[in-house]
Amino acid sequence: MTDETPDDPQDAIDSESERRREELDDRIFEHSAGDDQEGIPFVGAGPGNPRLLTVAGKELLEEADLVVHAGSLVNSELLDEYCGHAELVNSVGKDLEELIPLMRDAYEDGENVVRLHSGDPAIYGAALEQMDALEHEGIPTYFVPGVTSAFAASATLRTQLTLNEVSNHVAFTRPQGKTLTPEEDHISDFIEMGDVTTCIYLGTHAVRDTMDRLLEDDHDPETPVAVIYHASWPDEDVIVGSIGDIADKVEEAGYRASALVVIGDAVTGAGYERSFLYGDWANRGSSENSAETEASDD
Ligand SMILES: C[S@@+](CC[C@H](N)C(=O)[O-])C[C@H]1O[C@@H](n2cnc3c(N)ncnc32)[C@H](O)[C@@H]1O
Repeated sequence: MTDETPDDPQDAIDSESERRREELDDRIFEHSAGDDQEGIPFVGAGPGNPRLLTVAGKELLEEADLVVHAGSLVNSELLDEYCGHAELVNSVGKDLEELIPLMRDAYEDGENVVRLHSGDPAIYGAALEQMDALEHEGIPTYFVPGVTSAFAASATLRTQLTLNEVSNHVAFTRPQGKTLTPEEDHISDFIEMGDVTTCIYLGTHAVRDTMDRLLEDDHDPETPVAVIYHASWPDEDVIVGSIGDIADKVEEAGYRASALVVIGDAVTGAGYERSFLYGDWANRGSSENSAETEASDD
């Protein structure tokens, strides 16, 4: 174990960012997602149901000596089931100054360390800053993806986030608040586009504010909205409504956190047209062209 305190995490982040601007990391070309790699893996735990953890994530947890996990959004059943002998540390309430030496020292002592984020670490995960701080101290890190909660929500809703003639785009977003200024909140812009499924993370407490803003911006109050609390957990709850009435329903249910808000016509899965993928169009032209078409549409 080293006695060294880490560099100021912000200095480490700035320095790693600068390095990244200058040259791409060789590991980008040497490894694929899902490969075993040297270092501390930043693993996506998935949305909650332990069965929605990836095989790679499960294997890493089974080998782990120390698992630093994201607290209440990581299902304790998953920790019980897969982290057999590991020491478990909840990262909630701990800052980088505490987390980085904890992971660094364990790794330098030869322990298998896993950093476990909810869903996928690349979505509102604040993973890169921890990775940069560790890399800056010579500890290699890498991502192991997970199922983000929007994908669990769409599976629960038995719909697609993209749907031919209904939704051509998906926005993963969050509402204005401590992190985003009102100018940086683009939820109204996404709804205005008409063919976007808008998935709002970190917005359970702000459903009424968000819907009020959409109504002020003259969006159709009948636009479908679903709020999926704890998608894939045993206490999962699905509240379905519209821009006009969802806030009352969510308040009545009493949810202030841990739900995903999905806005757009894809919520109902109604009104779509068959895709080109399995129609006559896909089989038109030479067999070579249709193979390319299928590959690009798949
Ligand atoms: C800090 S973000 C982390 C998101 C996570 N990295 C992911 O990919 O799902 C936390 C927010 O994700 C959403 N969330 C996470 N797990 C969820 C679940 N099982 N069901 C519904 N929403 C969830 C909620 O909006 C919550 O406020």
